[in-house]
Amino acid sequence: MVDLKGKTDIITGASSGIGAALAVAFSQKGANLTLAARRSDRLKEVAQKCPGGVLTLAADLTRDSDRRKIFQQTLESWGRVDILVNNAGLGIYGDFLSIGEEDWRQIFEVNLFALVFMTRAVLPHMQSRGSGIIVNMASIGGLISHSDKVTPYVASKHAVVGFSRGLAKDLAGSGIRVLAVCPHLTDTEFFTASPGAPEMAPVVEKFKSFMDRPEDVARGILEQLDSDRLIVFPTVKPARAYEKQKDI
Ligand SMILES: NC(=O)c1ccc[n+]([C@@H]2O[C@H](COP(=O)([O-])OP(=O)(O)OC[C@H]3O[C@@H](n4cnc5c(N)ncnc54)[C@H](OP(=O)(O)O)[C@@H]3O)[C@@H](O)[C@H]2O)c1
Repeated sequence: MVDLKGKTDIITGASSGIGAALAVAFSQKGANLTLAARRSDRLKEVAQKCPGGVLTLAADLTRDSDRRKIFQQTLESWGRVDILVNNAGLGIYGDFLSIGEEDWRQIFEVNLFALVFMTRAVLPHMQSRGSGIIVNMASIGGLISHSDKVTPYVASKHAVVGFSRGLAKDLAGSGIRVLAVCPHLTDTEFFTASPGAPEMAPVVEKFKSFMDRPEDVARGILEQLDSDRLIVFPTVKPARAYEKQKDI
């Protein structure tokens, strides 16, 4: 397991769900954290559950100035960045033709471009130190089409896996590793925060008992931070789903 004592981790989308659970898990292992999301009140609640040092920053990841602020203020507070967890994301539920251009662009802004440009903001610093880990939150939907009526989400998460694959190749031998984390359905606010939530609610209810808990996903990520594989399944459920459906 990677030793997090005295290391600095940036976690985006840390105000709820998987990001919040990761913050607590990383902090318990001795990391200093920068937690970023739009809801500062929720970030502060998460920070109170963290035993170690925490900087909370209200930020909209789709804004370049906010992404730069996250990196700069992390350096000012902690002097280094060891791990960047690009976790902020959202879903969308609906028939392909019912989802308009604006929603398509928004999901790619958050799920792909925010992650790409957050990485660009931090990478030169990691390169100058010759070490670092970039953890990109993809999804089982980044490898297979895990559900119907989620085409833009599946497309955006496949793009996250593709970006991670390309970057990992470019960074081979640099001391910087890239992980694409692929969780399965996880019981978070994702299903109420995402556009199309009311229509999706009966489907979510059906699968609720089958979902992973964010704490289990966080533990699985923590345990596999030292993995030299690109794709990381945080629990057994996404690994099994992938084996069953990878050829479809
Ligand atoms: N839940 C699942 O079943 C599941 C499965 C596979 C993968 N994932 C992925 O896991 C990641 C975390 O999702 P979750 O399940 O934990 O859902 P969540 O509880 O809804 O968390 C999403 C996080 O993203 C942040 N966020 C969204 N848009 C943002 C923006 N423009 N700027 C800054 N932060 C933004 C939210 O914070 P604010 O609203 O405070 O900004 C929140 O902290 C996502 O990338 C999701 O695609 C989830």
